[in-house]
Amino acid sequence: MSVDLCHYMLLGLEDLAEIMAIERGASSHPWSASMMRDCLQSANTQVWGLVELSSSQLIGFGVLSIVCDEAELLLMAVKPTMQGHGYGSMLLTFLMEKARESQVANLFLEVAENNQGAQALYQKKGFQHAGERKDYFDNYDSEQKEDAYIYRAKLLVPY
Ligand SMILES: CC(C)(COP(=O)(O)OP(=O)(O)OC[C@H]1O[C@@H](n2cnc3c(N)ncnc32)[C@H](O)[C@@H]1OP(=O)(O)O)[C@@H](O)C(=O)NCCC(=O)NCCS
Repeated sequence: MSVDLCHYMLLGLEDLAEIMAIERGASSHPWSASMMRDCLQSANTQVWGLVELSSSQLIGFGVLSIVCDEAELLLMAVKPTMQGHGYGSMLLTFLMEKARESQVANLFLEVAENNQGAQALYQKKGFQHAGERKDYFDNYDSEQKEDAYIYRAKLLVPY
C-alpha cells in the first residue's frame, strides 16, 4: 500500500481495543490494557496510529513519550498480517519526525536483545546502540530474563 492510501492519527481511549488486538498479536511481551490506557491518558505520551484510509482500520501504532528535551519510543507494533510491507518503517519515520518537531535532541528506545527484526529496523533508521539493561525483560519461554538494548537516534544537530 502506498503512503497516500493511509494516514496517521493521534489515538484515544476509544481505540484501546484495536490497539490491544495488534499488541497482543504482534508481541511476545504484550503490554497490559491498563498500561496502554495510562499512555492514552497521559499528557506526556502520544499514541499515534497508522490507519488504512479505505477501511479506517489500524495497521500499526507507536507510543512516544516526550518529557522536556528527551523523547522515548516506548512501543511500536504493526498488525502481524501486515508486517514486512514497509509500514513499520513508515511509522518510525513519522514518529521520529514528531519527536524532532518537539525540539528534542535524542530519541531513545529499549528493545529485547533477541528482537532482531526490530533492531534491524532501528539501525536502518539511524539508531545506534547506546547501552544495555541486564535482565530487563521477562522471557516467557524460559526462567531466564532477557537483556534490553538501548538505542538512540540523534535528532537535532547541535549548533
Ligand atoms: C518491528 C515491526 C514494528 C516492524 O514492522 P514491519 O512493518 O514489519 O517493518 P518493515 O516492513 O517496514 O521493515 C523495515 C525493516 O525492518 C527490518 N525488519 C523488519 N522485520 C524484520 C525481521 N523479521 N527480520 C529481519 N529484519 C526485519 C528490515 O531491515 C526491514 O527492511 P527491509 O524490508 O528493507 O529488509 C514489526 O515487526 C512488529 O510489530 N513486531 C512486533 C512488535 C515489536 O517487536 N515491536 C518493536 C519493539 S518495541
